Amino acid sequence: MIIQRPKGTQDLLPKDSNKRQHIEEKLRKIASLYNYKEIRTPTFEKTELFKRSIGEETDVVSKEMYSFKNDEFTLKPEMTAPVIRAYIENSIQNESPFQKLYYISNMYRHERPQAGRYREFSQFGVEAIGSSDYLVDAELISLGSKMLGEFGIENIIFKINTIGSTEERARFLDDLKKYLSEYKNKLSPDSQKRLEFNPLRILDTKIDYEIEILKKSPVLFDYLNPDTKSHFENVLNALHKLEINFEIDYRLVRGFDYYTSTTFEVLSNDLGAQNAIFGGGRYDNLIEQLGGKPTPAIGFACGLERLNLILEKNNYVFPELCNVACYFVTMGDDAKIFSQKLMKNLRKKAIICDTDFLNRSVKAQMKEANKINARYVIVIGENEMKEKKFKVKNMQDSTEILTGLDDFIENAEMILKEK
Ligand code: HAM
Repeated sequence: MIIQRPKGTQDLLPKDSNKRQHIEEKLRKIASLYNYKEIRTPTFEKTELFKRSIGEETDVVSKEMYSFKNDEFTLKPEMTAPVIRAYIENSIQNESPFQKLYYISNMYRHERPQAGRYREFSQFGVEAIGSSDYLVDAELISLGSKMLGEFGIENIIFKINTIGSTEERARFLDDLKKYLSEYKNKLSPDSQKRLEFNPLRILDTKIDYEIEILKKSPVLFDYLNPDTKSHFENVLNALHKLEINFEIDYRLVRGFDYYTSTTFEVLSNDLGAQNAIFGGGRYDNLIEQLGGKPTPAIGFACGLERLNLILEKNNYVFPELCNVACYFVTMGDDAKIFSQKLMKNLRKKAIICDTDFLNRSVKAQMKEANKINARYVIVIGENEMKEKKFKVKNMQDSTEILTGLDDFIENAEMILKEK
């Protein structure tokens, strides 16, 4: 029986990984335009890290983690906690008190797979650590908006909210619990459980009758400190000035406990039920919570599979896979090694070339050259080696030029020109 890949994972075959490479290259360029520097962390971390940062009652920690070795380690379900762990452990703040870090990495969550939702997926994310300035929020969001612009993504809704700190939320949560308790029997089993352990998450419900119940519930914004509110207003004003459209959504709460103050999410109308392209927010208490000095920070992460789905849906033109510039058709063993030497020279000049490794007939090798869209073909046999001269055949118009070996090596770029 053939062994299949685990559910919720994907194989990226060359044409798909070509698209992914293009996406990643663009993202890296955008990140560096804003002076974000790349950080890489291990694929797994101590389980404790995620429990202490994301929160034990969240869906990710309570149901979706891939943990192993007696639960000591966990494949990372997200990158904010690992980045902060690395920030503290390596005292990165000593290099500069304000850090802009970005990553592209695989994440692991044991969710129910569906379109746009996988158990192994890839995120591009940015984390700005060390400043509570509202302009950091605005610039980071503007990076997200630039990202959408660069890929020509339009059909989106950008939702923003502010959720304050744990202390600010405490009084609200008491009132929310009281309010929702009156409707307890009408709530879904999930929400009933959340009412006890994580009532904030009920605000995020997608169930119509729960949304209806919530319409008259207390509003978190009313419970926030003046400082938190004015930070939010400053962010919104800056976004106006940067011509970034947004919708305030007072019900927007994110799935992790570490968030404070600004939170946001960008949804696409081109995706199905899993419609969030990217999301993030401030987490001003996390660094202290993980044993570092009190340090404000903000970040977001974007799912690359979802980005790719949107681009495919909108017929985004991805660059083509690089084609072979020159294919060597060989006759006999000596010709094969002779071609290898020639190819070594061509590759020094960054010219893509290839040859046959299946001992095929000349006819079959020509067929292969055609199939892979090689621009030029050179046939090497005994004569060509003896005379040190050969024909370079243009496969598009079937014209041929005769060239000497030295001349060819010297002028290969010109002879094998693109068109
Ligand atoms: P998140 O909202 O859990 O946030 O994930 C960010 C993005 O990752 C989502 O908007 C979505 O595009 C993608 N994503 C999440 N789960 C899946 C999945 N199962 N399959 C495919 N794509 C998925 C975070 O992870 C936070 N660490 C973001 C952040 C950074 N907050 C502050 N800094």
